[in-house]
Amino acid sequence: MLIRPAVPRDLRSSDITPESQYWTRREWLAAAGLTVGAIAGASALLARPAGAQQALGKPYGLQPDDKPTSWDDVTTYNNFYEFGTGKEDPAEQARGFKTRPWTVRVEGMVKKPGAYALEDFLKPSKVEDRIYRHRCVEAWSMVVPWRGIMLGDVLKRAEPAPGAKFVEFTTLYDPARMPGQRYPILRWPYTEGLRLDEAMHPLTLLVTGVYGRELPNQNGAPLRLIVPWKYGFKGIKSIVRIRLTDTQPATAWNVSAPDEYGFYSNVNPTVDHPRWSQAKERRIGEFLRRPTLMFNGYAEDVAAMYAGMDLRRNY
Ligand code: MTE
Repeated sequence: MLIRPAVPRDLRSSDITPESQYWTRREWLAAAGLTVGAIAGASALLARPAGAQQALGKPYGLQPDDKPTSWDDVTTYNNFYEFGTGKEDPAEQARGFKTRPWTVRVEGMVKKPGAYALEDFLKPSKVEDRIYRHRCVEAWSMVVPWRGIMLGDVLKRAEPAPGAKFVEFTTLYDPARMPGQRYPILRWPYTEGLRLDEAMHPLTLLVTGVYGRELPNQNGAPLRLIVPWKYGFKGIKSIVRIRLTDTQPATAWNVSAPDEYGFYSNVNPTVDHPRWSQAKERRIGEFLRRPTLMFNGYAEDVAAMYAGMDLRRNY
């Protein structure tokens, strides 16, 4: 893997190579088309120019008309309430947020609990570049080239104890550094949860980068979760703790509005949010709305985990 220098915090988008130079539209469509249900896509990607491959990575679950959302949109249209509730607030207010040193704790029902410096936490895992669809409950979506490690790898190393059923994630709590935490907008610190099988699923990533570069603060540096078949709010940012448990964890949005946000939060065009439809979405950077896909286009990979469940009740 090519090691790229980190993006300085104050780097402007005009200073980096535009993503269009890495990946032409024709290449993109070819790659996305090949991946629909096919591992064979990987070999086609290997034949592509090295720059494109390394900058963006392998497309997962994409549709032929999906193309990556621009760096500018990915890094300036954000939700990160610890740094303000406006979409452009996090890019502004998280600018000076220091993410080193950073400690990640793995605890609860594991045989090998531990507190790790971020570098040691990441080191044993394979780093991968993967392009995923990203669908927010607010009915907008993006296509994002993330860089990260498989959460399942981390959990396997910690050796889940028999009886562990869920994983709880917690964001840093430090109101001096995260100004939004001085206001009771959500219950702080932000927490999220997954069932253990969802957490072990090979699509579930702990993300450290985007567009082949270090994760910008506004996207959840230095470590955030991405679960591509769930609404974006499951992608908890700036994680300091991963805890295994036998009881379903409380999650920030479910605590704040239980009728609107459930534990599962699987993308589902047939179950509306009580105040708006989830049938369609607006792809950031595009004008027309497109239909939302069941499990955000990842049904083939994940639907079996929910077989027999009433997805209207388990929203
Ligand atoms: N994590 C924390 N700690 N705080 C937040 O406010 N917002 C969530 C999620 N993770 C949030 C968070 C929501 S609502 C969304 S849609 C995604 O982050 C947005 O991720 P993005 O800004 O990288 O697109």
